[in-house]
Amino acid sequence: MKPLSTGSEALDELLGGGIGRKVLTQIYGAFATGKTTLAAQVGLLNEGKVAYVDTEGGFSPERIALMAESRGIDPERALQKFLLFEPRDFKEQKRMVARLKTVVDESFSLIVVDSITAHYRVEENKSRLLGELGKQLQVLLWLSRKFNLGVIVINQVHFDSKAGVSKPVAEHILGYKCKDILRLDKFSRPNVRVAVLERHRFRPEGGMVYFRITEKGIEDVKDG
Ligand SMILES: Nc1ncnc2c1ncn2[C@@H]1O[C@H](COP(=O)(O)OP(=O)(O)OP(=O)(O)O)[C@@H](O)[C@H]1O
Ligand SMILES: [Mg+2]
Repeated sequence: MKPLSTGSEALDELLGGGIGRKVLTQIYGAFATGKTTLAAQVGLLNEGKVAYVDTEGGFSPERIALMAESRGIDPERALQKFLLFEPRDFKEQKRMVARLKTVVDESFSLIVVDSITAHYRVEENKSRLLGELGKQLQVLLWLSRKFNLGVIVINQVHFDSKAGVSKPVAEHILGYKCKDILRLDKFSRPNVRVAVLERHRFRPEGGMVYFRITEKGIEDVKDG
């Protein structure tokens, strides 16, 4: 089965066709880089239902309805595709991810966890909970393989003062489980963002494309 299109030709090409199935794709970056918009758009534009685990309150039905409308898609029908989970802390997140096993079936094409680390970050005993994070990723991977799904795992960044760079939260465990990793960065032009392929199963790393965030969602930058 084909990968899930992002709706941007440039991004699809970068990703070898789109968001892969049977694999976890990590999308990470600073705030307002377009992570939620991109994940919502993949759900909106592809056949099949979407299980959306929103830990940050960033999921916006109004935004999705607007994106649908400006693309000539019926907003009501678009929103019906999304099944929303809103865990309030890491413990609830654990329960809800486990519950996906009883909820998700062949009628789904995508699972989004937005973000996988927001609740984890504020916990006290992070090293103990790393194993729990790993278990959640394992459930997502299992589901992706069983039902041929795309899974988008959204992640935040933290500033590593020793290295002097921004890094993804829980970099190692997420790096082990996510075979495809896309980083989103801001750019000097308003509404324009840069996507960098940090890792991929069959595409060279370091590839990079620009995209715009508009009323429609994510769009290609046409004028270079
Ligand atoms: N209707 C719209 N038209 C154009 N741009 C919009 C619209 N709605 C939101 N945006 C832009 O989208 C960007 C936010 O995108 P998004 O929420 O996907 O980012 P994010 O990476 O998920 O951020 P966070 O880490 O805070 O969750 C903002 O720059 C905002 O101005
Ligand atoms: Mg977001």
